[in-house]
Amino acid sequence: MKVTRELISAEKIQDKIQELADLINKDYQNDEVIILGILKGSFITVSDLAKNLKVDVTFEFMSISSYEGSESTGQVKIEKDLDIDITGKNILVVEDIFDTGLTLSSLLEVLKSRNPKSVQILCTFIKEDKQQIPVDIKYKGFNIGPEFVVGYGLDYNGKYRELPYLGVLS
Ligand code: IMP
Ligand code: MG
Repeated sequence: MKVTRELISAEKIQDKIQELADLINKDYQNDEVIILGILKGSFITVSDLAKNLKVDVTFEFMSISSYEGSESTGQVKIEKDLDIDITGKNILVVEDIFDTGLTLSSLLEVLKSRNPKSVQILCTFIKEDKQQIPVDIKYKGFNIGPEFVVGYGLDYNGKYRELPYLGVLS
């Protein structure tokens, strides 16, 4: 397996993150927000976003896994849970990629049962044309095709997360 094609350049990604940060700055200008990064894939999006945020924000992380290699296992597991109480808080979940929707739909259920004030979702990459569990994503990065992608936080068996662009692996 090798990265054979650049799908979205580093520059385009940075422009998009800036755009999304501007929206977040507007939407949360009068309210505190907790950015909840889903590890490991979201760590680069969260840090690039963070540098452009001008709101009252704190950062938390959860770790959830559903994938081994490039095939979905159809199961999600909370590997590391939140260690704070989110009752009455505004949560903005940051996820790297939306594929089948299994991860985000399961996570939303868990979070909502903890009675936050609000839960919104930011997803950097969204795969279209797949059978998906519908999830309302408020902040969308890029719509992409069904191929397996790496870079900008996304991995194949732990590798390629450091690439500043999104690439196709084949
Ligand atoms: P979902 O639960 O099927 O929506 O899958 C979401 C998770 O699967 C993401 O958080 C990624 O960790 C992983 N994933 C899905 N598609 C890709 C891909 O193309 N490259 C790398 N990871 C992916
Ligand atoms: Mg993930």
